[in-house]
Amino acid sequence: MAIAPIAAEFDESGEFPHATIKKMGEMGFMGIEIPEEYGGAGMDSLAYVLALEEICKADASHGVIMSVNNSLYCHGIMKFGSEELKRKFVTPIATGQAVGAYSLTEPQSGSDAGTMRSRATRDGDSYVLNGRKSWVTSGPVADYFVVFMVTDPEKKQKGISAFLVPGNTPGLTRGKKEPKLGIRASATSELIFENCRVPAENLLGQEGEGFKIAMTILDAGRIGIATQALGIAEAAYEAARQYAIEREAFGQPIGAFQGTGFKIADMKTRIEASRLLIYNAAMAKERSKTDGGRYSLEASMAKLFASETAMYVTHQAIQIHGGMGYSKECPVERYFRDARICQIYEGTSEIQRLVIARSVLNA
Ligand code: CAA
Repeated sequence: MAIAPIAAEFDESGEFPHATIKKMGEMGFMGIEIPEEYGGAGMDSLAYVLALEEICKADASHGVIMSVNNSLYCHGIMKFGSEELKRKFVTPIATGQAVGAYSLTEPQSGSDAGTMRSRATRDGDSYVLNGRKSWVTSGPVADYFVVFMVTDPEKKQKGISAFLVPGNTPGLTRGKKEPKLGIRASATSELIFENCRVPAENLLGQEGEGFKIAMTILDAGRIGIATQALGIAEAAYEAARQYAIEREAFGQPIGAFQGTGFKIADMKTRIEASRLLIYNAAMAKERSKTDGGRYSLEASMAKLFASETAMYVTHQAIQIHGGMGYSKECPVERYFRDARICQIYEGTSEIQRLVIARSVLNA
């Protein structure tokens, strides 16, 4: 059961690739850094990005589903969850039996995530959740969600808390699937909470810690999206390199023309620079497991550079292919559409620049 041969078909239909995702889960791809005792593969952050890169070369939709399960879902629970929460909520995802998702954004709060309005109110031994969340990757299919809601509006960001919500909880419904430009086989939707009651023990971390938890998780997530961008760029580069060798014009391979050769040179150089930034961020994340330090700067630099690179490389790959590059018979048009989201989700390129600037200016 291979991913590359079915990528175009699932992109066209927009169907969620249940069978291959299940298979990836069984093979250990959904919990690469999770210790074996919780059903994961027990490997390190570098192993995670190497595996994700290969999946994303074949198909970015499979890649983002993998990235969300590993980084946005499992990573946060492992870092902030109690032993009981880890066993209950990480194991089914790490073993590939279930799909996880992360829900921060709301219709009126995207980049300015701290201004969310959804409310969680304590009622005895439970919390009652109300509100509307948007742009949830795997929203239509996920079995479990990490959800962020306001518990104390007066405290603004310090009044946000994180909850673990099973997808079958009464009062939780999923909105319509978003029709998207790219990563079309990954399903995205709104979540609607109407008096959705979860046990108080499903609180992740402490009340009021939710915003920091969301941001800490996103640092890990951004390395995943950077890696997704790298995989897409590598696939587009390889297709363009082959075409530049094989296609002839004016009596020679088009790669022999400086106009094409220089494009290929810039594509290769930017890809290798992205790779090093990603490996650097993965190693910073690995160090943080022992020293507890933040790696926001390294993660944001990797995501910014790799996603801008993916856009540049896929754009040039179409140009090198000429008319063929514009056709659905050739995968580079899919790479181009899939690359675009990397500059937007898990923090736009503008937000990455903001994080980097604040970090180096201590602002
Ligand atoms: N780690 C730990 N703590 C962090 C942190 C981090 N990475 N970033 C910020 N914090 C802490 C700060 O230290 C601060 O705490 P103190 O008050 O105790 O000092 C607190 O959080 C507030 O920080 P800021 O003042 O920096 O907050 P801000 O309102 O200025 O916002 C931001 C900062 C970087 C712009 C942030 O809002 C942000 O990242 N926005 C983008 C959101 C985003 O990426 N959304 C994508 C959602 S997921 C998705 O795309 C869908 C999907 O399913 C894939």
